[in-house]
Amino acid sequence: MERTVVELIAAKRDGNVLAEAEIARLLGDFVAGGVADYQMAAFLMAVFFRGLDDAETVALTEAMLHSGSVLDLSAVPGLKVDKHSTGGVGDKVSICLAPMVAACGVPVPMVSGRGLGHTGGTLDKLEAIPGFRTDIPVGDFARIVGEVGACMIGQTKEIAPADKRIYALRDVTATVESIPLIVASILSKKLAEGIDGLVLDVKVGKGAFMKSEESARALADKLVRVGTRAGKKVVAVLTRMDAPLGRAVGNANETREALDVLHGRGPEDLVECTLVLGAEMLVLGGKAASVEDGTAKLRAAIADGSAVRVMEKMVAAQGGDAGVVADPAKLAVASEILEVKASRSGFVTGIDALAIGLTGVAMGAGRTRADQAVDPGVGVEIDRKPGEAVKSGDVVARLFVRDRASGEKLSERVAGAFEYGDAPPPSLPLVVGRITA
Ligand code: URA
Repeated sequence: MERTVVELIAAKRDGNVLAEAEIARLLGDFVAGGVADYQMAAFLMAVFFRGLDDAETVALTEAMLHSGSVLDLSAVPGLKVDKHSTGGVGDKVSICLAPMVAACGVPVPMVSGRGLGHTGGTLDKLEAIPGFRTDIPVGDFARIVGEVGACMIGQTKEIAPADKRIYALRDVTATVESIPLIVASILSKKLAEGIDGLVLDVKVGKGAFMKSEESARALADKLVRVGTRAGKKVVAVLTRMDAPLGRAVGNANETREALDVLHGRGPEDLVECTLVLGAEMLVLGGKAASVEDGTAKLRAAIADGSAVRVMEKMVAAQGGDAGVVADPAKLAVASEILEVKASRSGFVTGIDALAIGLTGVAMGAGRTRADQAVDPGVGVEIDRKPGEAVKSGDVVARLFVRDRASGEKLSERVAGAFEYGDAPPPSLPLVVGRITA
């Protein structure tokens, strides 16, 4: 006899393992309207406390994946590889990474998200390019990936609709911070892209979802195990997210900075993060023999201009003004500038990424509700990064705002995010760990 919904919730509540078919049925019935929201919410809370083993997580991931359609990219030759980041402040890696990897011969079908909470979203940053469209129909998406090598769009109605409904329930029932639920949510959307391989950037630190290395490692391990069991090549890289990545936090200014990377003049930490993740993608996509080989190929794609050319083609194919790629300064930022000055002489020892991210949201660069619009031109530019020497009164950051009066309070918050000391802080590596199957 099949167990009822109530019996399945009770079994998980009591710490039992459910059969894969039971999880598939529960999800199928939920999508079809046979399981009420309050029952799903109770099940999610039971999972929050009791967890799901790998087989159960694969079953949940696949049920969520098949609640919608899986994009068919079989007409695009070669292994398709994407990257997913768990989210950070100043993380504009996807924008430079996709054209660099595509220029090296690995097609990148990328379905990205919008900013929510203190972390920004790739779609909001890309839409700072005049005319750039992220709501490309699925058929055009596949064509652009084939013709250009990369295309970056937003989640469509067809992609893992069960995730959308379940995420909305998790959001209001305090069940977001559950590793198996995060894994199923991320992987169901990524597997729907029709990819062969996935590189995960699991951020760890003050500005990340996962604050401790232990929790980031647990999430990365499970993402790799479940993704591999679902038949994909998966690698996770743990990267530090204590201070913002690069110097720009906002939308237009972040896109500018990502374009700077393509021109060979990006900030060191952003370039390093892009190369580390891109090299893994080239290895998964069969275009590099090793991570070192992949790094060399990506550097060559910057040096010979091929990454810039892919970006120009991608922007044009998605309706945007491709002229901004050659001249990123064309991306307009707000004209009122407020300077933040060092409160003492010494060294910058830290910049609280969470505080900067939250200030960005308060400025209008991010959103607190999913239906809000963002202002592409506002943002923060960091002039002094951790480890750099300062004299009292030096400019350490600038805010680009629409009106000076409200900007004053925000600049105090940015000032408060800077920490100073008499000596430079210990230089910690960007990459904290690497997890493979
Ligand atoms: N990102 C997602 O897509 N889902 C989660 O559950 C958490 C982060």
